[in-house]
Amino acid sequence: MIGVVGGAQWGDEGKGKLTGFFTKEAAIVVRFNGGANSGHTLVFGAETTITHLLPSGAVHPHAQCFLGNDMVIDPLIFDKEVKDMQAKGTLRCKRLGISPLASLVMPYCLELERLREKARGKAAIGTTMRGIGPTYEMKVRRLGIRVGDLLHLEKLSDYVSTIVAEINPEICHWGGQAYNNGRIFEFLEQARAIMQPFILDQPLSQIVCTAAAAGQNILIEGAQGMELDVTHGTYPYVTSSSTIAGAACSGVGIGPRMIDWVIGIIKAYCTRVGNGPFLTKITDQELAKKIREAGGEYGATTGRPRDVGWLCRAQLRHAVRVGGLTGLVVTKGDIFKGIKPKICTHYLLGGREIHDLDELNMWDYPAAVPVYEELEEFTEDISSCRDLASLPKPAQALFQRIGDFAGVPLVIISVGKDNDQNIILQNPWH
Ligand code: IMP
Repeated sequence: MIGVVGGAQWGDEGKGKLTGFFTKEAAIVVRFNGGANSGHTLVFGAETTITHLLPSGAVHPHAQCFLGNDMVIDPLIFDKEVKDMQAKGTLRCKRLGISPLASLVMPYCLELERLREKARGKAAIGTTMRGIGPTYEMKVRRLGIRVGDLLHLEKLSDYVSTIVAEINPEICHWGGQAYNNGRIFEFLEQARAIMQPFILDQPLSQIVCTAAAAGQNILIEGAQGMELDVTHGTYPYVTSSSTIAGAACSGVGIGPRMIDWVIGIIKAYCTRVGNGPFLTKITDQELAKKIREAGGEYGATTGRPRDVGWLCRAQLRHAVRVGGLTGLVVTKGDIFKGIKPKICTHYLLGGREIHDLDELNMWDYPAAVPVYEELEEFTEDISSCRDLASLPKPAQALFQRIGDFAGVPLVIISVGKDNDQNIILQNPWH
């Protein structure tokens, strides 16, 4: 069976914990997109590990873990992550491999991002500064360097010369220091030394299709969230990869008909980091702070405090449709203990009702007025509840409402940060 799990908001939905749940029954775990811009908090027994590049299966002894075709990998961050986990004894997976088709984040990609974000001033995207955008840009410009190229460095000289010729004018324009072939090859040799032991000697697509044909479970995990998708998200304040489940096919090398289920993960509220529109942002600073503190809403990659806002039905409907979700996981509803939850049911735009977020674009956002529904508050700690019936009535009503709005079944309600603090309603592997 093949399942896809991904964030269905703007990232930071608590994917690490839940992907860990789905990993338990997967022989193979593949991450399909993004790079070290993400931060997944993995809880394994009493230990907590944050990974930026390695799939959540990395801490599980039974899993084979692969970094997929459409990932962008910074070799130095990969090296640090692997070595830190090895030193702590937390890198337990059976096998760790990188697709030769994945892209390398090159030093000039990091530099270009830094120079451009600075030059944009107030119009900056507020990226994570991990070189993500420029690396994807070089890939579609057909001047990217892929992980598999590290095994053919002696043939790369002309290609690298073309890169140098094309990037230097922009780097110098922004006041950066020009690159030459020598500087780039020095980096590539370092990258080869780090990555060679992990580069798959067989196409990832072949490995996954063979395992699927043999009846093994394969989990494909996405990074970021569907509203950060480069096409379907709140453009241009998005990441540079496709984050929706459809992109998992390319990131792994399988056809869409091989996917059996797609689970989207959402929080019972929303958060955003970086710049860009956030229509349901909570403007009451005290309340936003209360939710931020209770939910630990600080970036796992950058440490930036996240903006906090109310759950939005139009956003949820968009993610369910575009992501092709078959089920939903809701996290952090427990945070609403002592807080009256609100859900944005729709927007008003010049007298018109907007029920789906993708009916709005960047030029509409400032004029769109959110309309809210208020729900009842609960005062009990719900982290020990393991079924719906034991939840206080207002909490039951909150989750019921989220399920109604999504129009797909809730499969898990996470009621705390520990791995066992869940109400499991369905297990998609069964
Ligand atoms: P980039 O992916 O570093 O290019 O950043 C583009 C936008 O996506 C910025 O607003 C980032 O804050 C946001 N972003 C990227 N990765 C994540 C993530 O894993 N969680 C939440 N936001 C993210």
